[in-house]
This record gives sequence, structure tokens and C-alpha cells, in this order.
Amino acid sequence: MTASPLLPRNAPFLPEDIDTLNKVVARTTPQQRAWLAGFFAGFEAAQAGGAQAALPAAKPRAPLTILYASESGNSEALANKAKKAAQKHGLDAKVFDMADADLSLLAKSKNIVVYAATWGEGDPPSRAVDFYQALMSDAAPRIDGVRFAVLALGDTAYTQFCAIGKAIDARLEELGGVRTADRLDLDLDYAKQAAEWTESSLAKFAPVAEPSSGGTVVHVDFGGAMLPADDDEPQFTAETPLEAEISALVNLNGTGSTRETWHAEFAFDTPGFSYQPGDAIGLIPENDPVLVDALLKAVGLGSDAALLLKLQKSYDVTTLSRSAVENYAKLTGRADVKALLEGEAYPKFAADRQLIDLFETYPEKLTAEQLIGLLRPLPGRLYSVASSLKAHPGEAHLLVGAVRWESHGKIRKGVSSTYLGERRKVGSSAKIYVKPNRHFRLPPDAHTPIIMIGAGTGVAPYRAFIEERVAEGAKGKSWLFFGERNFTNDFLYQLEWQDYLESGDLSRIDVAFSRDQPEKIYVQHRLWERRADLRGWLDEGAHLYVCGDEKGMAKDVDATLVKILAEAAKGDEEAGRAKLKELTKAGRYQRDVY
Ligand SMILES: Cc1cc2nc3c(=O)[nH]c(=O)nc-3n(C[C@H](O)[C@H](O)[C@H](O)COP(=O)(O)OP(=O)(O)OC[C@H]3O[C@@H](n4cnc5c(N)ncnc54)[C@H](O)[C@@H]3O)c2cc1C
Ligand SMILES: Cc1cc2nc3c(=O)[nH]c(=O)nc-3n(C[C@H](O)[C@H](O)[C@H](O)COP(=O)(O)O)c2cc1C
Repeated sequence: MTASPLLPRNAPFLPEDIDTLNKVVARTTPQQRAWLAGFFAGFEAAQAGGAQAALPAAKPRAPLTILYASESGNSEALANKAKKAAQKHGLDAKVFDMADADLSLLAKSKNIVVYAATWGEGDPPSRAVDFYQALMSDAAPRIDGVRFAVLALGDTAYTQFCAIGKAIDARLEELGGVRTADRLDLDLDYAKQAAEWTESSLAKFAPVAEPSSGGTVVHVDFGGAMLPADDDEPQFTAETPLEAEISALVNLNGTGSTRETWHAEFAFDTPGFSYQPGDAIGLIPENDPVLVDALLKAVGLGSDAALLLKLQKSYDVTTLSRSAVENYAKLTGRADVKALLEGEAYPKFAADRQLIDLFETYPEKLTAEQLIGLLRPLPGRLYSVASSLKAHPGEAHLLVGAVRWESHGKIRKGVSSTYLGERRKVGSSAKIYVKPNRHFRLPPDAHTPIIMIGAGTGVAPYRAFIEERVAEGAKGKSWLFFGERNFTNDFLYQLEWQDYLESGDLSRIDVAFSRDQPEKIYVQHRLWERRADLRGWLDEGAHLYVCGDEKGMAKDVDATLVKILAEAAKGDEEAGRAKLKELTKAGRYQRDVY
């Protein structure tokens, strides 16, 4: 048990002063308390000796480099929080995004804390790719004696769990760095553990307080006032969501479509629920009770209504993570389950299977506690916001593609998309929160042209962009490239785009319907056909946006953009790639891909 540092009620102060002092003391670190003790002891000693008060000497704080690799902002937010916390530990912290940082930064640093997310299938976040590749290359500088610590963010649903954080941690050691705190790999419910890790790691980097020559004053310079608590954090987060009413829910696809894409409107009268076009809205789903029931039966726990409800609302009952297999192997002692963890057996088994397949293939009876012990909390899902608050005060609109597939003889349903599409109705409510994305924003100058490229649900943020520009009376040109399967059934928000074209609020649209002709036509083909005009818009300063499926669309669009830019440089692909990077660095090529 740790003792409380609060002043007792019988301390020689007025009761209200005890309360005031305790409010401050409750927030202090051991180091700050040592400083206070030293300061007052030194002050009194100096007074007694008739000398000037021994004010704390200005001891330089220890420098700290906080570096992050982030796609959707989690690592970035942790890095910024760490900077604030670092002040308290006597650390002079500077935060760097790997997107803008040069590798030489590492060798120049004394102390480094890294927050790194993993994306794609074990890839670095897209803006961090250059830095990451340079770090992994032979050209990386030695960092002998540099102290470091790495926090890795990831999702245990991916076989390459936290791969990038793990690789950075190993590489920094290989280059001569000294691991000052152990790496922590965190799943989607990272908030609490990340805060604890940050606190304990920063304490390890903190400069050691030295007693003064008189032995009474502890000289620690905290560098002025402490920063207030994080005030730019949204009020409604995954941990504190808002219960909002669903005021509209419409499948935008025609009856003959192979797609099912829901336009959902959430209504709220809470001014604190605020977002900007480009942000994502998180939705906290509930599991399909039919699946939960089947899962309970598979482990011999039938007909327990309370347990079913608990699992339906709070636990991830679908993800077949490596750690779930490890824990099931330990719990059951089954050698065949343990064998799944050898070599490539796990990724092979887990591919398009879910937790229920593990229980049904290797059946064992579990208690409720044992089952819950195998599950992680149910994570929220993100959706690019499809509305502007200026156009729809008190509302947030989303465009959600229903995920359904069949594998190993089972019909499978995406948890969140079918929660919305099947198990929610107009008038029911759902829990939502805001996930800001400052890397997907309209240009600050309303006259700047925008080129928006998206397929399927990737069109969602562009509806928000145009609504915002209309609401603001922005006059910049806009050009939409939209792709889907079929013109008749899948032209999402077709009437709205046509109205905007008529009113001039959308300057131009090019569509690619892949299945309307024998050969497949995708947005990247349209980009190539219109490349001369596209380069013209870029010459006028246009900002380029890409949103939607990473594997199916964004990669091909990226490669086509390189080709288009290379053509203007006599076919030099390197020059094309460099130009696209230049646009990225200037914030003129922004991606929101998933
Ligand atoms: C920043 C961001 C913005 C996003 N914006 C949008 C948006 O605007 N609209 C939108 O619809 N989605 C969006 N998404 C995706 C969204 O968050 C969810 O991932 C998606 O809705 C699926 O969630 P789910 O719970 O329905 O499916 P889950 O239960 O999470 O299941 C999805 C998983 O099932 C597996 N799976 C899916 N299909 C198959 C298959 N055919 N074969 C085998 N396995 C399969 C895959 O492992 C996949 O990851 C966004 C994601 C991010 C990160
Ligand atoms: C499309 C996509 C791919 C992902 N791929 C991985 C992965 O391969 N391994 C992993 O551990 N996490 C993966 N994640 C999870 C992210 O690392 C996790 O959401 C993290 O908190 C994101 O941090 P960021 O916001 O700083 O980018 C993926 C997430 C998404 C949406």
C-alpha cells in the first residue's frame, strides 16, 4: 500500500487552507514534494543564518524527444499528453511527428519516447513510412547511450499485432540505444494502460534531484507553471460516449444491388458534441444476440440471459486473436490448440474464422468467468462523418457499408455495420463519440480548389466537405471522382451531387461504375483519363483527397497519381513520387483510408 501524501486534518493550518493545500498536493509527484520540502527547509535555514533566502537554483531540465507514428491520431494524442506530463517530471519535452522528422533527430536526442501505431497488415502509418524505412536502413545513425522507451499501439485482431512498435523498439536497441522502460504493446482499449505507462516511463527519464551543498535545498527547476489538464480532448470519447437518437436510417442501394450501404443520422441536443468535416465518428456497437447465444452453447453455457446481455453489450465475441488462442490453450491444456501457436498455424487457422470456430473445433466446457477472461472489451468502430454541423446543427450523418461474408460454412456479419443496419431502427439510440482527424481537413483558404477521390463509403467525408463549403459560402472549385459497382443501384447520394452540380457548388464529377461494362473501370482509370485537367488543377494549388478502402482503391489511386505526376516529368517515376511526397508534406495530399 502507498501512503497518502495529503496533510492530516490536525496539521497547523486553517481547515480551509488544509483543503486548498491538499488539492495541490494530491496532484504532485514525489519529486515535486521533495522539491517543496527542500525549498522550505533551505529557505528557513537561510533566514536563520540571516542570509538571503536560498531560492531554488535554475537547474536545466533534462531534454526529452517524443516521437510518434500515427494514422488516426491515437499515438499522436498520447504523445501530446506525454509532453504535458513531462513538465511535471522536470523534462523539457518536444513532440515530433515521424511524418515531418528527420532521422538525425535521434542521434541529437538524449532521451526518446516513441508512440507508434501499426497499420495495413503490419505496416507503418502512411505518413511515417519514410522515417520508418530510413530507421530500418543501413544508413540509420548510431545512437549509442541514447535512452529510449517505446509504446506500441495495435489491435489483436491483426496477426501482425503492434509489429511497428516492436520493430522500432528492437531497432533503437540495435543502434546502441539504452532501453529505459520496457515496451508496452496495447490493444484498442489502450487509454488507461497507456497513461500509466507514460507516467512510470517519464519518471525513469526524469533528472535525479541533487541535494544542495547545504544538504537542505533540492534544486529542481520545473520550468514555470504546470500546464492545465488536456483541454483539447473531445468531451465525448470511446470511454465517455454520447447516447444519441437515430433519426434516419436508409439503405441507399437499389433493390438489385450487391451492396448494402446505410445512411444513418444521429440527433443530439448536446452542444459539447462537436465535430468538423474530415473527423470520424465512433460507434459503440452491440453484438448479434444470436451469435452470442451460439458462442455460449459452444462452451457449454446455455440459457443465461444476464451473461448473454453482458457479452452482447460489452465484450468482443468475434475476434480470434493470438492471445485468445494462447489463453484457451493454457486454460484447457489442449495440445492441439497449443499446436495452433506454432509456425504459421495460427494465421492460417484464424484467416476468415472467428472465436466461435475455435470453441466449436476444439470444444471444452468453460465457466462464465473463464469465458470472459478470454475476451477483450468490445471496441468502437470509426466512420468518416458525412455531414457538416453548419448544415445540420445537432446532427451527425454516417455512411456505413454492411459487412457480410460466408466462410467455413457459416454466414458472418460485421458486428457494428449490421448492428446499425439490422438491429437499430429509427427512434432507437446508439452510443457515439468524436475522433478528430486533423490530417483530413478542407483547405484553410475557401478559394482553394479541391479534388476528392473516393469509392463506396469513401464518398462520405466529401458530402461533409461540400455541405461545409456551401454553408460557408466558399467559392473554391471542387471535383469529385466517385467509384462503385453499378450506376443504377449504387450511386450513393446521386441526387445531392446532381443538385450541387446544378447550383455550381460542385464544379465537376467523374464516376466509375466497375460492373456496368465488360471491362472493369475504377476511379484510378478516370483519374488517368482526366490527367491533363487534374495536373492543371494541381498547378492552381488544388488539395487532393483520397478516402475509402486501402487495399482495394487507395493503393491503386496512389500509384496512378505517381504515374500522372511522372508523366509531367518525362516519365520519371521517381520525380512523380517526389512530387506526391511534396504535396503530402504541404498538406495538399490527404488520405483517410481504412
Ligand atoms: C478512420 C476510419 C474511417 C472509416 N470510415 C468508414 C465509413 O465511412 N464507412 C464504413 O462503412 N466504414 C468505415 N470504416 C470501417 C469501419 O470502422 C468498420 O471497420 C467496418 O464498418 C466494419 O466493422 P464491423 O464491425 O461491421 O465488422 P467487423 O465485425 O469488425 O468485421 C470486419 C472484419 O471481418 C473480416 N472480414 C470482413 N469481410 C470479410 C470477408 N469477405 N472474408 C473474410 N473476412 C472478412 C475482416 O477481418 C474484417 O476486418 C472506417 C474505418 C476507419 C479506421
Ligand atoms: C485499416 C487498419 C489496419 C490496421 N492494421 C493493424 C495491424 O496490422 N496490426 C496492429 O497491431 N494493429 C493494426 N491496426 C490497429 C491500429 O494500430 C490501432 O487502431 C491504433 O490505435 C491506431 O493508432 P493511430 O491512431 O495512432 O494510428 C489497424 C487499424 C486499421 C483501421
